[in-house]
Amino acid sequence: MTFKNKNALFCALDMRSIDQAVTFTSSIKDYIDGIKIGMEAFYSMGIDGYLRLQDLNIPIFLDLKLHDIPNTVKSAIKSLIPLNPFMINVHISGGAEMLRAAVGAIHESKESKPKLVGVTILTSMNEYSFEEQGMKLNVQDQVINLATLAADCGLDGVVCSPYEAGKVKSKCGKDFLTVVPGIRLDKTESDDQKRTLTPYEAVRNGADILVVGRPLTKANDPLEVAKIIRKNIDGYAN
Ligand code: C5P
Repeated sequence: MTFKNKNALFCALDMRSIDQAVTFTSSIKDYIDGIKIGMEAFYSMGIDGYLRLQDLNIPIFLDLKLHDIPNTVKSAIKSLIPLNPFMINVHISGGAEMLRAAVGAIHESKESKPKLVGVTILTSMNEYSFEEQGMKLNVQDQVINLATLAADCGLDGVVCSPYEAGKVKSKCGKDFLTVVPGIRLDKTESDDQKRTLTPYEAVRNGADILVVGRPLTKANDPLEVAKIIRKNIDGYAN
């Protein structure tokens, strides 16, 4: 990774207006390492919005969480590669064959080769959500199982909660990327996230890329919050 900071901070741009997203990104650009464009932003702004954000010259994590049969995922990735994202993702629960097809699409690319990470268990889920689905494993064990599968299939890393990043690193190797949402400066304001920690704690636990959305996008003074998060990260990283 070639970020200006040792531990990267990506802002989740969960918003619908292109102008708002461009203005917002420009205002905090010096304090972040990249932006994450997820379903809300991509489905409403489309490729035009994506390209306007790309003009800001900042790495883009295109977070579309692909999950389908192997051939469909492979074709979808081939369609995304020309957009030149820094990183894309799939749901690991799509299975080994799907993961290998996704990796294959990137290997076969003669254009750019985005990093490919796999979503383990959403940070909005906890043991109760597992029980609801009749799952017998605990969340941590399942995250590690999925991360191991992703590593075996050749993915570059996983999306996991700050609680599991360290275990993922020790199981899958220090170069296996940990992309970590569920970051909160104040744990009492977790929104729909259930497995949250502070930026400092996340980095201490092995997070490489921190993904922060609402604490920045809903802040009265996003620039000030971005500076606080950066300081909080560097409190450990330096
Ligand atoms: O607003 P907040 O900081 O909770 O945003 C977190 C972002 O990370 C959201 O865009 C969400 O879609 C994404 N995400 C997540 N948990 C995952 C994968 C992605 O929260 N496991």
